[in-house]
Amino acid sequence: MNGILEAIFERRAVKVFAPAEISEEMREQILNAARHAPSSFNSQPYRLYWVGTPQEKAVVAELCMKQMPAETASALVVAVADIGSLAATSQGQLEWMRNNSEFSEATIRDYERTAKIGRILCMPGPFGIFGAVKWGMFWLLNLLTVMGMPPLFRHDFFKWATKSTSLACENLMIAAEALGINTCPMEGFDGRRLSEYLGLSARYHEIVMVIAVGKKSPAYAAPPQWRRPLEATVTIL
Ligand SMILES: Cc1cc2nc3c(=O)[nH]c(=O)nc-3n(C[C@H](O)[C@H](O)[C@H](O)COP(=O)(O)O)c2cc1C
Repeated sequence: MNGILEAIFERRAVKVFAPAEISEEMREQILNAARHAPSSFNSQPYRLYWVGTPQEKAVVAELCMKQMPAETASALVVAVADIGSLAATSQGQLEWMRNNSEFSEATIRDYERTAKIGRILCMPGPFGIFGAVKWGMFWLLNLLTVMGMPPLFRHDFFKWATKSTSLACENLMIAAEALGINTCPMEGFDGRRLSEYLGLSARYHEIVMVIAVGKKSPAYAAPPQWRRPLEATVTIL
C-alpha cells in the first residue's frame, strides 16, 4: 500500500505509551509536517507548544485531567488557535515575497492590498461593534449576490482558526505515524488552567487540542477500530 495511506489507516489513538525518547530530528520532522498543512488564506493561525521536559509534561498531563495517554506520553503538543498572529503573518509573507524574485511588483502590491482589507475585516472593534456593522453590511450584500459570510465576531474567528489548526494537528499525527511514533489527540483538558500555564491570552488564543506523542506500550492493545459505514458519512452527488 502507498506509504501515506498506510500511515492514515494504521494510526490509532493510543492510550498507553512506553517510555521512549523522541529525537530532536524527529520532533522537527513532525512539527514541520504540521505546519505544511493547508490553512485558510495561508494564514497558519496557530501555535504548537511542544512540551517535552519531564517537569512541564507532568504539569500539562495533570491539566489533561491525568488521562493515561497524557501521563505516559513522551511529549505533549498543545495546539492553540492563534488569531493574534495574523498581522505578523501577512507582514512575514510580504517580506518573503519582496525577497523572492518570482513575484512581480504588481503581485506584491496586490497581496499588500488584500492583506490590508483582511486586516480591516478582522477588526472586531470595541465590544464587537465593528463586527455588528460588518454583519449588517455582509447580510445586505448577501441578499444581492452570491457570497459567503466571512468571520465577523471573535467566536467566528476562533472557529475559522480552529479549522486550520485541526488540519495541522492531523498532519502532525500522520507524520508521526509514518515515522513510527504514535499519538492520541485529546480535548479532555482544563482549558482555563492550561491557558494560564502557557501564558495565553483569551483575546487571541484558544486551545484546540492536546496531542500525546510517544511509542505505544507493548502492553497496550487498541480495541478494534469502528467507523460509520461509508454511505453514512459520504454523499455522492
Ligand atoms: C478532537 C478529539 C478529541 C479527543 N479527545 C480525547 C481525549 O480527551 N481522551 C482520549 O483518550 N481520546 C480522545 N480522542 C481520541 C478518540 O477517542 C479516538 O480518536 C476515537 O475513539 C477513534 O479511535 P482511533 O483514533 O483509534 O480510530 C479524541 C479525538 C479527537 C479527534
